[in-house]
Amino acid sequence: MGNILSISGLSKSFRGLQAVNNVSFNVREGGITGMIGSNGAGKTTVFNMISGVLVPTAGTITYRDQDITGKPSYCYTDMGIARTFQIMKPLRHMSVLDNVISGALYGRKHYKSAKEAKEYAEEILQFTGLYERRNWLPGEMGTPFKKRLEVARALATDPDLLLLDEVMAGLNPTETDEAIELFRAINARGTTILLIEHIMHAVATLCEEVVVMHHGEKVAEGTPEQVMNDPYVIEIYLGKGDDD
Ligand SMILES: Nc1ncnc2c1ncn2[C@@H]1O[C@H](COP(=O)(O)OP(=O)(O)OP(=O)(O)O)[C@@H](O)[C@H]1O
Ligand SMILES: [Mg+2]
Repeated sequence: MGNILSISGLSKSFRGLQAVNNVSFNVREGGITGMIGSNGAGKTTVFNMISGVLVPTAGTITYRDQDITGKPSYCYTDMGIARTFQIMKPLRHMSVLDNVISGALYGRKHYKSAKEAKEYAEEILQFTGLYERRNWLPGEMGTPFKKRLEVARALATDPDLLLLDEVMAGLNPTETDEAIELFRAINARGTTILLIEHIMHAVATLCEEVVVMHHGEKVAEGTPEQVMNDPYVIEIYLGKGDDD
């Protein structure tokens, strides 16, 4: 399959700070692509431009052969792009189930009834390990479950391309492995995933292709094995003697 997303010469500066500098990469349709890099490398800024939160200073974003550079953020759900950060806060006074139902109702699937939307939301809750908490309020859950809820709400819009920004942060090793299985299952249903992640084990397990960012620039790309054996990547990112 071809590329669902192509980024070309993408740049973003904030009052003289070059947060993203001339970054180009492709996301293969049907795959899982990873983005790694040190803090402040510009990863989230790239996501913000792909999802319409920020307008690039330069460069183009092509989605399904269509130039979507600078499109306003409300267009993205209908195009089939969802991200975990887009909906910053859960709907606080609604149950976990109702949060996911609202994602389903505003998504691309056109339900004939509220019952259908609820059934789909319940399926998503099963998928994301939130079903037992479906009647909780978001504020009653810890960070890992709140992050799962963000994934669930994004997933409920039925995206073709799902952007995950560090959704495994704060998970213990068992929870991380569960999240890896979840993302595999999401991908197996046909959703292309682009994920920013610091947990190298997760990146190595999930991703076929990895883009490495440093100081706003793409400094390497390739398979997880290729980038993790790249001396420059080891120097700037993986650190001294860490062979994990
Ligand atoms: N809206 C903004 N205004 C000004 N500077 C910003 C803005 N957003 C990001 N930056 C700066 O741009 C740089 C890149 O930030 P970004 O959040 O993209 O990094 P990141 O790779 O996601 O880092 P992390 O791993 O810590 O999440 C940082 O120096 C950050 O302070
Ligand atoms: Mg970030």
